[in-house]
Amino acid sequence: MFVCMCYGVTDKMIKEAVTEQGIGNIRELQQHLTLGEQCGKCINMARNIIDDVIVDE
Ligand code: FES
Repeated sequence: MFVCMCYGVTDKMIKEAVTEQGIGNIRELQQHLTLGEQCGKCINMARNIIDDVIVDE
């Protein structure tokens, strides 16, 4: 599923960034993947995915 349509970032890419790269918040994610810099509509969903993965770990 695409989270960021503007940059083509999927939920799978975000989950992998959290589990494999130790990304822990939206700022770190944006340093790792380009997302949220155009319309910004994906930021809340990306944040929720990060939080969900961290809670599940
Ligand atoms: Fe991510 Fe537009 S959907 S910046």
